Amino acid sequence: MTAQAQAQAPAAIDATRVAGFESRFVAALNEAAMLQLVSLAHRSGLLAHLADGEPVTSSELAAKTKLNERYVREWLGGATVAALVEHDPQTLTYRLPPEHAALLTDSGEANLAVYAQYLPLMGQVEDDVLECFHHGGGVPYTRYARFHEVMAEDSGQTVLPVLFDAILPLAPELPARLERGIDVLDLGCGRGLALMKLAERFPASRFTGYDLSREAIGWATERAARRGLSNLRFEERDLSDFDLTAPAQRYDLVTTFDAIHDQAHPLNLLKGVRRTLRQGGVYLAQDIHSSSHHHGDRDHPMGTLLYTLSIMHCMSVSLAQGGEGLGTMWGREKAREYFGKAGFGSIEVHQLPHDIQNDYWVLRP
Ligand SMILES: C[S@@+](CC[C@H](N)C(=O)[O-])C[C@H]1O[C@@H](n2cnc3c(N)ncnc32)[C@H](O)[C@@H]1O
Repeated sequence: MTAQAQAQAPAAIDATRVAGFESRFVAALNEAAMLQLVSLAHRSGLLAHLADGEPVTSSELAAKTKLNERYVREWLGGATVAALVEHDPQTLTYRLPPEHAALLTDSGEANLAVYAQYLPLMGQVEDDVLECFHHGGGVPYTRYARFHEVMAEDSGQTVLPVLFDAILPLAPELPARLERGIDVLDLGCGRGLALMKLAERFPASRFTGYDLSREAIGWATERAARRGLSNLRFEERDLSDFDLTAPAQRYDLVTTFDAIHDQAHPLNLLKGVRRTLRQGGVYLAQDIHSSSHHHGDRDHPMGTLLYTLSIMHCMSVSLAQGGEGLGTMWGREKAREYFGKAGFGSIEVHQLPHDIQNDYWVLRP
C-alpha cells in the first residue's frame, strides 16, 4: 500500500468495542425511558399512592389516584418491565417494593424521583437550544415552564434537611450569631425555601432574598406571608451589576445555593457579595462539584447529566441574558480564581456526605 493509500484507509474498527457500546446504548435508552416513567408517576401521584407497598390492580390504583385507568395500566406495564414495580400475573396486582419506595417517594431520606423531572423539563427547550447551536445566543427563563418548581423540590432535598446540622456549622460561629440577630442575604434565592426555614428558626435575625424571577419571588413572598414571617423580605432583582449596586457593609452572612454558575455576570455578583459583607462577615456558597477541566470529570458520578443540564439550561439562561455562560461544570479551579478576584482572602471548600453533586464553600474577606 502506498503512503497516500495508507493515510486514506479508515481506522480499523474493534468489533468488541462496537458491541460493548451498542449494549450500553440500548441500556441507556431503556434507563432514560424509565426516568420518564418515574417523572410521570411522581407528578401524577402514582408513586405516592404506591408508597405503602400494598398490591393493587390498575383499576384500584386509578380509583385511588383519580387517574385514567387506561393510562395507569400502560404505566404499570412499563414499570413492570423496567422492574420498578413487581407484578403478580395471577391476581393482576402491582406493588412498589419498600426499597424502591424508600428512594422514589417521600417515605425515605431523599426522594430521587424529583431528579427524574429534569430530562423531560429540558426536553421542552430542545428546539430552542438547537437554534442556539446554529446561531449562538441563549434560552430565556420564560421558556422553562416548571423550572423554579422543580428547582425548589431539588434544593428542598440537598439544602433544607441539612441546613442547621451540616451547612451552617461549616462556619462554626454562625448558629450563635443567628440566634443573637444578624442580617442575612440570599442571592439567586429562587422560591426562597432556605430563607423561610432560617427566618422561622432565627426570629431575631433579618433575612433578604433577591432573584431575577418575578414568578419565583411572587411565590416566595406569598408563601412567607402565609407562614407569618415578618423578619423576611424578597425582592425581584437582576444581580448582573451587583458589584456596583450592592450596599456597602450591609450584611453579616451572604448565601448562594446553586446560584453562581448560571448568573449572567458571576464575577460581578461575587464582587458585590464581598462589598456588602460587614467586617467579620461570612459568605456560604453551595455550587456544583466538578473540576474545571473536562478530563478531570471523567469519573464524576453525575458528570454526563450535569454537562447536559448545562447545555439545556444553566449555560444557556446566562447567555440569554447577554451573560458569560460560565456553565454548570465551571469547577473548583475556576471557582477559586473567581473568589480570589472578588477579594476573598480565606477560601475553604467542603463536601457533605449527603450531597455528591455540590461543593460547599466558606469564604471570608
Ligand atoms: C439554579 S437556581 C437556584 C435557586 C435557589 N437558590 C435554590 O437553590 O433553589 C439559580 C437562580 O439564579 C437566578 N438568577 C439567574 N440569573 C440571575 C440574575 N441575573 N440576577 C438574579 N438572579 C438570577 C435564577 O432566577 C434562579 O432562581
